[in-house]
Amino acid sequence: MTTNETARAGTAPGEQGQADAGAGVRSILVVGSGAMGRQIGMAAAVAGYTTTVRDVDATAVAAAERDMRSWLDGRVAKGRMDQDAADAAWERIAFTTDLEPAITTADLVIEAATEKLDVKRAIFAELDRLAPKHAILATNSSTYGSSAVADATGRPDKVCNMHFFNPALVMKAVEVVRQERTSEDTVQAVAAVARAMGKVPVMLHQEVPGFVANRLMGALRDEALDLYAKGVASFEDIDEAARNALGHPMGPFELMDLVGLDVSYLIRQATYELTGDEAEKPHPLLEEKYRAGEYGRKTGQGWYRYDR
Ligand code: 3HC
Repeated sequence: MTTNETARAGTAPGEQGQADAGAGVRSILVVGSGAMGRQIGMAAAVAGYTTTVRDVDATAVAAAERDMRSWLDGRVAKGRMDQDAADAAWERIAFTTDLEPAITTADLVIEAATEKLDVKRAIFAELDRLAPKHAILATNSSTYGSSAVADATGRPDKVCNMHFFNPALVMKAVEVVRQERTSEDTVQAVAAVARAMGKVPVMLHQEVPGFVANRLMGALRDEALDLYAKGVASFEDIDEAARNALGHPMGPFELMDLVGLDVSYLIRQATYELTGDEAEKPHPLLEEKYRAGEYGRKTGQGWYRYDR
């Protein structure tokens, strides 16, 4: 079931019993209200969890709240969710700039802040200081394995990656990645929460840069960029091939625009810096777009142009 079908059925998984709900997880705090954070928070609220989405930036918080209210209204208008379920989800979610009091009652924290390691480490140290001892601290990072932040906490056994995909209210996969010190209970609890959100957990037994899905996507993207750079086909036609020959919902160029050329570039650059592997270096065309500030849908211009 999707998160919405789950809510429509009136069986909020977070209330179905602790085995399903993820080892006693009832209350979730999402740190970061960007494109990912807000949708992760909404998915959690729809699934029955008491949820807080927190960001340091008040403007971002307000934008996230408006966006998620309008998403819920859209679900009702489309007949995808009934009004009672939408109202209940809205009751369960709060948007705020304050870490407290939500952090003091959180069973699971999902960090979805900017992909800067020093920022993440500072966040994890603060979360560790304020969160209940039993709370799991997960990162949605697609760049950094949680070993990069676990040692900023006194609970490395309760730290892992919980990696969602954009748009997080739609995409079903959630990568659950353990580092050396993550406990089995932690990964199982996080996987159970993902299932309760209507997602399909993909379990990684070790950290690898890019995890699984972004590595697959990266391989396709690199080949697409190469074909385009060599003049083999237009980027529009390469997208056509991915959609109509391979059945992908989006071509690689459209997908870069959706994810953000900045995000795609920064992930690749960070991976290159982590591994030192020349093959991981961002493609020059990707770098060109990044330097030009053409980030895709969010700026109105990426590979394609968008009305904003
Ligand atoms: N937010 C929430 N819901 C959205 C949405 C968004 N931004 N965009 C689309 N949707 C919903 C629509 O409301 C619709 O829901 P419904 O069918 O229940 O009414 C459903 O998705 C389908 O939308 P559309 O009919 O408008 O359009 P499409 O059928 O073309 O689907 C898509 C849009 C879901 C984005 C689809 O094109 C797709 O799956 N694209 C691939 C996305 C992908 O690969 N994501 C992974 C990116 S990699 C990543 O995130 C990793 C990170 O580390 C960077």
